[in-house]
Amino acid sequence: MKAVGIAGTGTMGTGIAIAFARSGWEVLLYDLSKEIVTSGLEVIGTEFQKEVRKGRIKPEDAQAAIARIHPRTELSEFSEAHLVVEAVTEDLSTKRELFSKLDKICDPSVPLTSNTSSLPIGAIANGSLGRKRVAGLHFFNPAFRMKLVEVVRTDFVSEEIILELSQIVRQLGKTPIVTRDTPGFVVNRCARHFYLEPLRFLSERAGSVEEIDFAFESAGFPMGPFRLLDMAGVDVNFLVSKSIYDQFFQEPRFRPVVLQQKMVESGLLGRKTGIGFYDYTNNARHSALKIERRDPAESEMVRELARKIAGRLEIKQPLNDNQLLVLARTVSMIVNEAFFMVEEGVSNAEDIDLAMKLGTNFPNGPSEMSELIGRYLISEFLQVMRHVYGDAYRPSLMLSH
Ligand SMILES: NC(=O)c1ccc[n+]([C@@H]2O[C@H](COP(=O)([O-])OP(=O)(O)OC[C@H]3O[C@@H](n4cnc5c(N)ncnc54)[C@H](O)[C@@H]3O)[C@@H](O)[C@H]2O)c1
Repeated sequence: MKAVGIAGTGTMGTGIAIAFARSGWEVLLYDLSKEIVTSGLEVIGTEFQKEVRKGRIKPEDAQAAIARIHPRTELSEFSEAHLVVEAVTEDLSTKRELFSKLDKICDPSVPLTSNTSSLPIGAIANGSLGRKRVAGLHFFNPAFRMKLVEVVRTDFVSEEIILELSQIVRQLGKTPIVTRDTPGFVVNRCARHFYLEPLRFLSERAGSVEEIDFAFESAGFPMGPFRLLDMAGVDVNFLVSKSIYDQFFQEPRFRPVVLQQKMVESGLLGRKTGIGFYDYTNNARHSALKIERRDPAESEMVRELARKIAGRLEIKQPLNDNQLLVLARTVSMIVNEAFFMVEEGVSNAEDIDLAMKLGTNFPNGPSEMSELIGRYLISEFLQVMRHVYGDAYRPSLMLSH
């Protein structure tokens, strides 16, 4: 019987515990105090009840899975684990300290993994003598339902560990994709442009919140960027954007948008505060932001290329020129990012497509979008955009050659 040690019983730790327990693993669930672990177990119990009610698991299987989860308040008890998944608070020194302890507690053959979304795995491993066995295992929320897990490879980790982790992910009924240890890994990095570009467009007063969301929903995206920002938390998303921007030494294409900072400062955080891009105290049908539209100022060349790009997407409702423009800009930036990642060896085009479809439910992966549209057209559009708006639109070398 295999046992996994899970450190942290918050949103992610509890979700990951459910995923392992359902697949037959014994789970050692650890947090800072008995009270915290107990409340984590209560969350897990409630989730299992919901799964039973929805007919996703038989009551006896849920019962058996719960019985496989064992509360722990001493890290030393992880000496019994065959794998460790760390899901504690997103703080580098906390994680580093934990890993250097785990390094001494766990057998040298045991993979030590972190679920961090934005910290470098290499930095977390720094301080552990056994860097060769430290990797990322990045689950998505809710971890017991989302199919994708990014397996993050540092420059030190052994190939056997990466293979073993990929196999474990498959055994959980999920899909692993291997990514290099670079800021945002694959999904959070590529998806940045799904938020940044519409935010820029909104800041330029070229379209309203509703118009922009409608454009994306018409093009097959499950939810417009602003509705999604409100759901996930405008503040949480802003922190990720800032972190990726800083880790890339202020690369212009990742520059966060002032409008988002203003919203965070004003407490417009989305659903959790009742108001964000939409007003949830008032049906959430209309935007809460008073942004006055300006007359379109883009050159005819930019508009013409944007119409061509959007014309190659599957769009179900008629859209105006500005809506086509925001779609063309965003899709082009997503495709461009995927080309940058392939160029840098972060992952391969197929895995990036798979990751984006499973991790974000985009209708197509970036390389599929690029096939649909034509990469030279995207490159030409970005060159023109770069000329007008600056280096944020620099196309990757692979895209243009
Ligand atoms: N929330 C998400 O959507 C999401 C998605 C993917 C990855 N992540 C990552 O997962 C990790 C956890 O995120 P979360 O949202 O579950 O956080 P959370 O705040 O819900 O839970 C964190 C837990 O860690 C515990 N903790 C703090 N220090 C500890 C220590 N030294 N030892 C043991 N436990 C400790 C806290 O008591 C708390 O229960 C973070 O690294 C985050 O970046 C989060």
